[in-house]
Amino acid sequence: MIRPYIHLNCASTADGKLSYADGTRLRISGEWDMKRVHTLRQRYGAILVGAGTITKDDPKLTVKGDYVQDPLPITKVIIDGSGSVSPSSRFFKTLGPSIIFIGSEVDHTWTDEVLRRNEGRKDDITIIPLHTKEGVFPLKKALAKLHHMGIDRILVEGGPTILWGFLNNGLWDRFTIYHGPMLVGGRGPGITGGRGTFDPLRIKLENVMKTEEGGVLLDYLPVMVRP
Ligand SMILES: NC(=O)c1ccc[n+]([C@@H]2O[C@H](COP(=O)([O-])OP(=O)(O)OC[C@H]3O[C@@H](n4cnc5c(N)ncnc54)[C@H](OP(=O)(O)O)[C@@H]3O)[C@@H](O)[C@H]2O)c1
Repeated sequence: MIRPYIHLNCASTADGKLSYADGTRLRISGEWDMKRVHTLRQRYGAILVGAGTITKDDPKLTVKGDYVQDPLPITKVIIDGSGSVSPSSRFFKTLGPSIIFIGSEVDHTWTDEVLRRNEGRKDDITIIPLHTKEGVFPLKKALAKLHHMGIDRILVEGGPTILWGFLNNGLWDRFTIYHGPMLVGGRGPGITGGRGTFDPLRIKLENVMKTEEGGVLLDYLPVMVRP
């Protein structure tokens, strides 16, 4: 299957959590990791997140000038099977194309509202409906479509449900996890979500780096792609 090169990335606490126990945003990365992530965003030129992350965090999905000199707009891709993200989400307002994949059953009133609320940026907004099968959104089709649109590499920044979707379908080439030096406990979102598997995915640790801010960066590669 032809798809973009996929780099998965997340910031986790040392106890494997991506946010506070109630799902609210937790600043895990220090300045070193922020610079690494924003440099990656600029290098890849395209970033993908799931609807849950938009709803919980309302990120701008930009490259910040604090970390990268003369940042350029990047392409923002959202996977939103049920058309649940708010039409007033901040990423719609930032420079650069926004591509939102939705399920084909999403009511057109959502699409209309997105375009109405973001009138000034509507030339930069592409909404792509795809057929879901038994409620499962076709990630592979979305990736083939992105490749067809000229996106040949992409940084996937979560959250856990999306990360598991990519991992479990063998749709990845590199996975970096930054473990910040903190613990939060609880039952909040972990590195991966989804339904899980009784057939563990094997991954290969390629590199480990202790960072100057006391965190650890783990760099994994896939061992093999399951059929
Ligand atoms: N620390 C970090 O690096 C980091 C990064 C990002 C997010 N987060 C945290 O992660 C949490 C949000 O994570 P989340 O798991 O709720 O949301 P998410 O992974 O951002 O998005 C999940 C949504 O993606 C959609 N989706 C559609 N097709 C999918 C597929 N094939 N596979 C997987 N997902 C698919 C689903 O929406 P539909 O149900 O509408 O189809 C699903 O609900 C927040 O607490 C946020 O703070 C942390």
